[in-house]
Amino acid sequence: MSRTFRTLDEAAVAGKRVLLRVDLNVPMEHGAVTDATRIDRVLPTIHEIARKGGKVILLAHFGRPKGGPDEANSLKPGAAALAERLGQPVAFAADCIGAAAGAAIAAMNDGDVLLLENTRFHKGEEKNDPAFVAELAKLGDLYVNDAFSAAHRAHASTEGVAHKLPAYAGRAMQAELEALGKALEAPKRPLVAIVGGAKVSSKLDLLGNLVSRVDALVIGGGMANTFLNAQGLPVGKSLCEKDLAETAREIMAKAQAARCAVILPVDAIVAYHFAANAPSHAFGVDAIPTEGMMLDIGQLSIDRIAASVNEAQTVVWNGPVGAFELAGFSHGTFALARHVAQRTKAGKLVSVAGGGDTVAALNGAGVADGFSYVSTAGGAFLEWMEGKALPGVEALRR
Ligand code: 3PG
Ligand code: MG
Repeated sequence: MSRTFRTLDEAAVAGKRVLLRVDLNVPMEHGAVTDATRIDRVLPTIHEIARKGGKVILLAHFGRPKGGPDEANSLKPGAAALAERLGQPVAFAADCIGAAAGAAIAAMNDGDVLLLENTRFHKGEEKNDPAFVAELAKLGDLYVNDAFSAAHRAHASTEGVAHKLPAYAGRAMQAELEALGKALEAPKRPLVAIVGGAKVSSKLDLLGNLVSRVDALVIGGGMANTFLNAQGLPVGKSLCEKDLAETAREIMAKAQAARCAVILPVDAIVAYHFAANAPSHAFGVDAIPTEGMMLDIGQLSIDRIAASVNEAQTVVWNGPVGAFELAGFSHGTFALARHVAQRTKAGKLVSVAGGGDTVAALNGAGVADGFSYVSTAGGAFLEWMEGKALPGVEALRR
């Protein structure tokens, strides 16, 4: 895939106005960034363009404002956080098009960095409106997209403008596509996918598509309960989407037809209330108490999944297999994360993980560095796993 789009290697940026789309949609509390991973990933691209004498004009969205200015979703605090991590001043313009943007750009010297206000303050952004695209395109000589995590959106700043200016993938985008390509496009097999998280409903397409692409599908977390229930097993008071029983059975049938092994929990750690220190016991999945909640997978399940990881040459992971945010129920997720990291370090497999919760879980287990690649993307990572074309990536193709 890497060869099908232009990278920064081919971009002549010196003296040019470079519109650089980044994803600064980072978690914030009281105006302070609480996880700067996405910011850190785009620093190399910003540095490279600045060092080569380009004017770096950053386009980004923040939150989901309703198409008008909205203080709570201003990118202004993002400019400060970015400047600090970049070690260089970052100017800020209060609008991403028009006079404010134009004046701020006119004041730039080569190598300067400017952040434009939230693109989603204009309705034309999410509508990919040609008039808004033209306003953005006017501001730059070329366009670089370093926001893989927003590439599933066909918005003006992620897709439209790529058709109006010479367009290139930034270093973070390039790294993301290369790493992900290795894991799903031409993976070394066996390929095992671990999918967890609370709800089947949010990942139906993903599960349905994965069974025809992977050799084994491990299902954990709340969504596993939906599958257990669909097989007539008791789930007590566990999180479970009982109305999706038929869908779960269809996915199982599809998997069987595709010769994809589906690995469900065989035992679970059960508690009677949802709290970090709730007393808990292990039960087989055929004996879950009526009042109990499955909050983590048990040791037999961990061993079973670890065994399939031992056979794998590639592992892709999205979603925790238990309520890892509660200390008492993080063991399954953390143990698996450590196991995948250890096999990766030993050179036995390529491992790729993505999604906000998943990255938090890997950090919790202290093994984010142990994976071959950790994506910064949530929705875009899922769509990529599903095999969907991402508009922001497609627009960069030659
Ligand atoms: C994300 O945080 O997933 C990306 O920045 C995309 O944001 P969105 O889901 O609001 O489009
Ligand atoms: Mg999202």
